[in-house]
Amino acid sequence: MTAVLIQPSTPVMLPIQPGSVTALPLHGRAAVLSSGEQGSKMLRPVPSSTIRHPSDGELAGRQHDRDGLAEEQLAAAPDSTPPMDEFRHVPVMRDEVVDLLAAGASDRERPLFLDATLGAGGHTAALFERCPNAQVVGLDRDAAALVAAEERLARYSDRLTTHHLRFDQLTDVVDPGSLSGVLFDLGVSSPQIDHPGRGFSFRQTGPLDMRMNVDDALSAAEIVNNWDEADLASVIWRHGDEKQARRIASAIVKSRPVLDTTSLSAIVADALPAAVRRKTRQPAAKTFQALRIEVNSELDVIEPALLAAIDSLDLGGRLVVLAYHSGEDRIVKRVMKEESRVITGRRDLPPPPDAKVRMRLVFNGAHKPLANELEANSRAGSARLRAAERIEGLN
Ligand SMILES: C[S@@+](CC[C@H](N)C(=O)[O-])C[C@H]1O[C@@H](n2cnc3c(N)ncnc32)[C@H](O)[C@@H]1O
Repeated sequence: MTAVLIQPSTPVMLPIQPGSVTALPLHGRAAVLSSGEQGSKMLRPVPSSTIRHPSDGELAGRQHDRDGLAEEQLAAAPDSTPPMDEFRHVPVMRDEVVDLLAAGASDRERPLFLDATLGAGGHTAALFERCPNAQVVGLDRDAAALVAAEERLARYSDRLTTHHLRFDQLTDVVDPGSLSGVLFDLGVSSPQIDHPGRGFSFRQTGPLDMRMNVDDALSAAEIVNNWDEADLASVIWRHGDEKQARRIASAIVKSRPVLDTTSLSAIVADALPAAVRRKTRQPAAKTFQALRIEVNSELDVIEPALLAAIDSLDLGGRLVVLAYHSGEDRIVKRVMKEESRVITGRRDLPPPPDAKVRMRLVFNGAHKPLANELEANSRAGSARLRAAERIEGLN
């Protein structure tokens, strides 16, 4: 799977800020505004390896056809970039995450970390403070997040490299055995949810978009308005754990075309039996989560990314993962468990003599945020933190 440089013609509109990545072409390369050059438009070229995005639809290996979309939906294409002051995200379990990562680098002079989900850069900012010699490679599939993170982290710009990449492509930018720690803070960021133009919010009116990478082909509008009723129900059931998936899919199909997020929320709420609706504070939450996961093929890339991250860890290096729903956490738990246990293949036989494990769990099970964090940040509510450490292969 090859990542490609954003082409000069790629219609990504990003604000020009110091240190930010923009899609402005400079002799066929993307460009960065140096710190202190805000507004001066003096662009310096960045290496072509620095800004990349996956090709359309490659995750699911299928072609997505937008032709079937109503004109209104295409016209409602998102203004995907929230202003910088809106790009705020409270890093979940920040201190514990940073403690775990820093412990993987205790004996290294210039440790290298990977923040596989840079987002608004909150965890990475704390890591820079904790480890004054650390370098961080930051990835995000959302170009707007990278712009905001680079601005927020401008004072550490000599220690930060960013890449517009999906995290399962991390081996494109980091070498095997080179990292003291990798962080995956899965899911969406607050700015993505809070900006109505991104279409993630069931509360605010916006286009049915939900793409983390606005260059990807598949949007929520395509699924909602063009997919077969059974496929739609399956998505809502599998990724949303929504028992009423069939009713909801049927109501959506009858209401087509569905033009925006709040229309969809209303259709979902009306589809629920009255008794269920009365008990549910956010009737559309599960359906929106399911659509978002499908649009971004979120679950498909977690396992390959975790395995690639483990390959990239140096001995003693830490893999730290925050998951926010059971579908994500199941995958994280399984991979960490499998990598930290000898698998014999047969319960009635001892492990083969050459069987090795390369990880140890830093703690058993998952840690949850403490009550004071939950009071301050309700979005931390479902967080599950897991951590494992790279060890010399052990029998
Ligand atoms: C929960 S936020 C991270 C917040 C960050 N830790 C902070 O403190 O600001 C998750 C971020 O990961 C990004 N993301 C989600 N899936 C991704 C993937 N497969 N590859 C790269 N980035 C991804 C999202 O675009 C989002 O910006």
